[in-house]
Amino acid sequence: MPAATGATATRSGTASSRFDLFREPQLSDPYPFFQRLRQEAPVFYAEDIGHWVVSRYQDVKQVLRDHENYSAQNTIAPIHPLCDAARRALADGGWGIVPALGNADRPEHTKTRRSVVKAFAPRRIADLEPYVSAMLNAAIDRFEPKGEAELMAELLFDLPAYVILRLLGFPDEQAPAIKEGAKNRILFVWGRPSDEEQTQLAAGLAGFFSLCRQLVDERLARPADDLTSELLRVRAGNDEILSLDSIASILFAFFTAGHETTSSLLGNSMVQLLRHRKAWEGIVAEPALIPGAVQEILRYDSSVISWRRKAKREMEIAGVKVPAAAELLLLLGAANRDGEVFDDPERLDITRRNAGRHLSFGTGIHRCLGATLAQMEAKLTLEALSRRLPGMRLAAGQHFDYLPNISFHGPRAVRVEWPAQGSGRAGQ
Ligand code: HEM
Repeated sequence: MPAATGATATRSGTASSRFDLFREPQLSDPYPFFQRLRQEAPVFYAEDIGHWVVSRYQDVKQVLRDHENYSAQNTIAPIHPLCDAARRALADGGWGIVPALGNADRPEHTKTRRSVVKAFAPRRIADLEPYVSAMLNAAIDRFEPKGEAELMAELLFDLPAYVILRLLGFPDEQAPAIKEGAKNRILFVWGRPSDEEQTQLAAGLAGFFSLCRQLVDERLARPADDLTSELLRVRAGNDEILSLDSIASILFAFFTAGHETTSSLLGNSMVQLLRHRKAWEGIVAEPALIPGAVQEILRYDSSVISWRRKAKREMEIAGVKVPAAAELLLLLGAANRDGEVFDDPERLDITRRNAGRHLSFGTGIHRCLGATLAQMEAKLTLEALSRRLPGMRLAAGQHFDYLPNISFHGPRAVRVEWPAQGSGRAGQ
């Protein structure tokens, strides 16, 4: 246990002693617990995960923005140390990931981010809109006559995956292999897998990295109109600007950062809007409310409830000393419901004026590069579902399951139903 000072640094006798995001009830609804943490133990050391946990808005924001004193190197390192077999599986599978964006510090981060921003022009997102709309309408056409659907399996899990694959330039035929390879990477990094599970996941992830590397080589030989080719153009044959492994690592980062985060945003949106019926009816009657509703869902029920940093030197947060090299777990989900920033924070209000101050995309030099894309997908999805199936309801008696992990939060299945009706397709 690292040295700690301050009344809130230890776990005994406070809410912090019951901190366990891996299990129910915190797994499916961490918010009552987050509220207690903000009040009783805003900064404390959680021994079982070896991290200092920070829950108040100003503290979380301050750490995220302070890249001089906090490193991002640990953001995607497995919480659960790798066993030897998993290490071997990575090495044997040709694992060549280099710190590129989310887990790189300055000056490397600045260099890579500059290249990615240059390559990821806003028109790439606009170009994807017709593709997203077509996918939404095709899926709704398929399930609308049934009067019921499991939204994650029939639409919301795949949609962001195909969008990223298209953005990067992977052919659709590779989608099953990629989804298999990248499966449960959340469990690998942010969960508590057994050694056997960890080894299997490691082999799958190494295979997925090889596919990224392969795509880089293919686009080097035959450029196309996609982000991979654009990154190669920015590289201009110069490894000092971007190496081929760093481009493959960027592709890997985009897929891993942009798939389940967005699927879960879509799943959380549907669960929360349908639970809060007036909010759903609001967007049905007035689709112009949808962009604000997306911001409020990001605040109220984010798909990324925590993110990590590592202290470069001894620091003090809210009066608690944390030692040099301390690993920090920043509870974005708790910060987003801090009453110091948001009025009546436990209430979902799709017209909330300052919902956009949420920290779900992080802040500072690492702020999410896919925020605009994710919001575009959420907006089009809510527009399509509310327009075509306005009578949609959550199927009665369902319990929502979540993958046991400390950062990513989204329902694995969402069963919905609606009364027989015209689909509202006409006149689109
Ligand atoms: C609802 C969806 C999403 C959420 C909640 C989310 C959340 C986050 C968070 C919390 C960070 C870390 C920020 C920090 O360290 O301050 C991040 C970084 C990042 N995200 Fe997202 N993300 C989402 C969607 C996407 C999408 C769709 C993409 C890709 C198209 C993407 C790509 C990235 C990348 C590349 C970074 C690293 C940026 C850097 O370090 O410079 N994300 N995201």
